[in-house]
Amino acid sequence: MGAKYAVAVSNGTAALHIACAAADVKTGDTVVTSPNTFVASANCAVYVGGKAEFSDIDVVTLNLDPAKLEARCEKITNLRAIIPVHFGGLPCDMPAIREIAQRHGALVIEDAAHALGAVYPDGSKVGCCKDSDMTIFSFHPVKILTTGEGGMITTNDSALYRRLLRLRSHGINKLDDPLQDAALAYTDGEVNAWYYEMQELGFNYRMTDIQAALGLSQFGKIGRFLARRKELARRYDAAWQGHPRVRPAQPGTRDQSALHLYVVRIDFDAAGITRHAFIKALKAVGITTQVHYIPAHLQPFYRARGFKPGQFPVTEDYYRECLSIPLYYGLSDDEQTFVIESMQRLLK
Ligand SMILES: Cc1ncc(COP(=O)(O)O)c(C=O)c1O
Repeated sequence: MGAKYAVAVSNGTAALHIACAAADVKTGDTVVTSPNTFVASANCAVYVGGKAEFSDIDVVTLNLDPAKLEARCEKITNLRAIIPVHFGGLPCDMPAIREIAQRHGALVIEDAAHALGAVYPDGSKVGCCKDSDMTIFSFHPVKILTTGEGGMITTNDSALYRRLLRLRSHGINKLDDPLQDAALAYTDGEVNAWYYEMQELGFNYRMTDIQAALGLSQFGKIGRFLARRKELARRYDAAWQGHPRVRPAQPGTRDQSALHLYVVRIDFDAAGITRHAFIKALKAVGITTQVHYIPAHLQPFYRARGFKPGQFPVTEDYYRECLSIPLYYGLSDDEQTFVIESMQRLLK
């Protein structure tokens, strides 16, 4: 991706957790993310004692809306980090988000769990961290590339890199980190052969060699994975063009997106079928679909922390009509045609 450093970890959630810890998010600090995301993007702030806050999305990109983010950040004291989520694999407006973060003295941690292989408008790769402090990835089985479970953090900051290495492994010193207890550490001016120091509280978030081996073999195929997703997305785009009840989400962005998801917005009321019934009918013919996402602020955990329905209307309106339809490397043209025809039949 063009970043100086990368730290492999056991999953994307672990990556977010230690990224927040390395960013020094702590009790009393606030982290802002998108409500249109998996809960892990917000939970990481809470893991380290911080408060998760949300800001509404843009109606077209479904990513954080910079104008709303600015207004939101104005109202927050102790803003420590912004976590933009590249929803579905489409990069956020990073220069605008970086500028807002700088104005408020906050760090930027990109949640690129969906966006391995995505490119910014200037052609640089998501993960290069040109407008952020850290970028996290997930290698969960449904993602662009998998290690079974796995994740990674990229950064260009050597201090953050060193801290991430320590946090990944119990908070124990790594590389040539200075040692604090000279009496225990040295014999005749040399570091004792057995010696290590735990200097802060860390975790066991290491990726195993077995996961890494799978990741390396998957990485060799990434070009093929991304190209096939693009091809399938374009075929869907053509199929839904002019359909009265189905609108592809994030239109016109296929060249930038890693296309982790292909989301359509469906007017279920006009089609006279509920989303629940629609999903069940597709499932009955062997087609699995999903909703990405139930707005994070509406989860009971966040409702108990004061968030309310109606607070982020663009996200909530989008949620009511979204559906992610099958998009993955192994989907054949015939299977995709079957998905399209099955949906068309149900939406007549
Ligand atoms: C946007 C987003 N962030 C973070 C994560 C967490 O990644 P993992 O499942 O590897 O812990 C996910 C996982 O689905 C995700 O979709």
